[in-house]
Amino acid sequence: MKILTVYYSLDGNTQLIAEQIKSAVNGDILRLKPVHDNNKKGLFKLLSGGRQIFKNEKPELEPFDINPAEYDLIFIGTPVWAGSFAPALNTFLAENSIQNKNIALFCCSRGGKGKVFIKLHDILRDNNIIGETEFLSPVKSDPKEVNAKVSSWVDEIIEKLD
Ligand SMILES: Cc1cc2nc3c(=O)[nH]c(=O)nc-3n(C[C@H](O)[C@H](O)[C@H](O)COP(=O)(O)O)c2cc1C
Repeated sequence: MKILTVYYSLDGNTQLIAEQIKSAVNGDILRLKPVHDNNKKGLFKLLSGGRQIFKNEKPELEPFDINPAEYDLIFIGTPVWAGSFAPALNTFLAENSIQNKNIALFCCSRGGKGKVFIKLHDILRDNNIIGETEFLSPVKSDPKEVNAKVSSWVDEIIEKLD
């Protein structure tokens, strides 16, 4: 079974989880990088990201040489931005037709998942969504607890496919 973990991360939280998933499943990993990323600080960072969400922006991504169509299981990860998923994922999902895949969703937030999973379920409705989970500020959490949660969730996902 070919497994891909695709994610966007601005401040390292989603990256931390994505890399742990990749290690646990021994698959490939794709970090989505906007050509012009949100490089603001503090409140301006929140306002700039929030505006991108409300305008449903699809920022241009740096090129990558991974073809999602080649994978059987795709983990998709995003930070929560203004209650939604990150704009980079918006671009990825618009430019890559993801169909008939097994999908597992994860998000990182400071307070809650908002509508991330509801929206992703809708966009990815032509797929088999086998699980979803959320992490609260994992970079600032107990590394052992975070890793244990990742491991048990990944096991749960893989078991569903066996
Ligand atoms: C533009 C922006 C909007 C955010 N909106 C939310 C939000 O609506 N709810 C929330 O709980 N956290 C929100 N956060 C916090 C991030 O979701 C949280 O810090 C997450 O762990 C960051 O993931 P990352 O380190 O992979 O970028 C926001 C952060 C940014 C930069």
